Amino acid sequence: MGLELAYTEAVAQATRGLYARVAKVIPEIEWPAHAPLIAEINRLKRQKNAVILGHNYMTPEIFHCVSDFTGDSLALAREAARTDAAVIVQAGVHFMAETSKILSPEKTVLIPDSRAGCSLASSITGADVRLLRQKHPGLPVVTYVNTSAEVKAESDICCTSGNAVRVVEEIAREFGTDTVIMIPDQYLARNVAAKTGVKVITWAGACEVHERFTADEIRDYRAQNPGVTVLAHPECPPEVVAEADFAGSTAAMIGYVGAHRPARVVMITECSMSDNVAVEYPDVDFVRPCNLCPHMKRITLQGILHSLQTMSVEVTVDPAISARARVAIERMLAVKA
Ligand code: 13P
Ligand code: SF4
Repeated sequence: MGLELAYTEAVAQATRGLYARVAKVIPEIEWPAHAPLIAEINRLKRQKNAVILGHNYMTPEIFHCVSDFTGDSLALAREAARTDAAVIVQAGVHFMAETSKILSPEKTVLIPDSRAGCSLASSITGADVRLLRQKHPGLPVVTYVNTSAEVKAESDICCTSGNAVRVVEEIAREFGTDTVIMIPDQYLARNVAAKTGVKVITWAGACEVHERFTADEIRDYRAQNPGVTVLAHPECPPEVVAEADFAGSTAAMIGYVGAHRPARVVMITECSMSDNVAVEYPDVDFVRPCNLCPHMKRITLQGILHSLQTMSVEVTVDPAISARARVAIERMLAVKA
């Protein structure tokens, strides 16, 4: 770290308000390591007319101290389409940065670590989708946004965990079918099928973070924490979702806590969620089991700073693929909330 990034009195003062916000989840002893990076990132953002889009799984120092906009995949995609900043720094995984680039091709989209992948995105290729279509002619292909641009380009419509139910109902109605191809998350597909009654042909993909939760584990949390409210992400296996009080996207889980203010809650999802939400709701007690997403955790303050300093790693999408993928994403964005 250069001299100018030391934890000086000026940096301490400039970041005091930010620390007050995250004091509950970041130990004081760690702040001198974060604060100079935070101050410099926020300065560079203004200088370069950049915005940071932070996913709900970012660590609290990224989520609360440098992100201009935070949310689930759906909200970040909407914001990428809307922002008038010249540069988007995606504090999330690669498919999210690709989605931003597809929706804002004229903007510079940066990802702090291009290795930040996703087990779902790497489970399927465009050629796989073409084969599925051959096998099931005439059926619409609904593709989770956790996929590459190439896979989106082969699809009729995209969805996120926040709108999957509405997207599947709408596309089934439009195609006049009771069956859709829903890829690549077998669990999300089965959870949506259970909610909509639409039959799904799916793919053997899974989120390496959410597939590890088990129904037994949920029953144990309830036994150890009587009265606890259990919220689960729909990438969890159906038997886990069946044990939960509510299942929804990361934003929907946050919305549930805000609306219901349960005394005690357990979020069956990635680790950083509880930390980030606990900052907003000090009156709620969070039981904090979690599974870490190694891809999301590749995004760090150091990486974001380097990204802004060097304007790298720039995310590009082949224009022909981008144009086709954009149709599927925009069709999703047009589905009413
Ligand atoms: P959300 O769209 O719910 O934020 O989920 C994205 C993700 O990667 C979950 O694992
Ligand atoms: Fe992909 Fe799962 Fe990580 Fe989300 S949590 S980015 S779905 S591996």
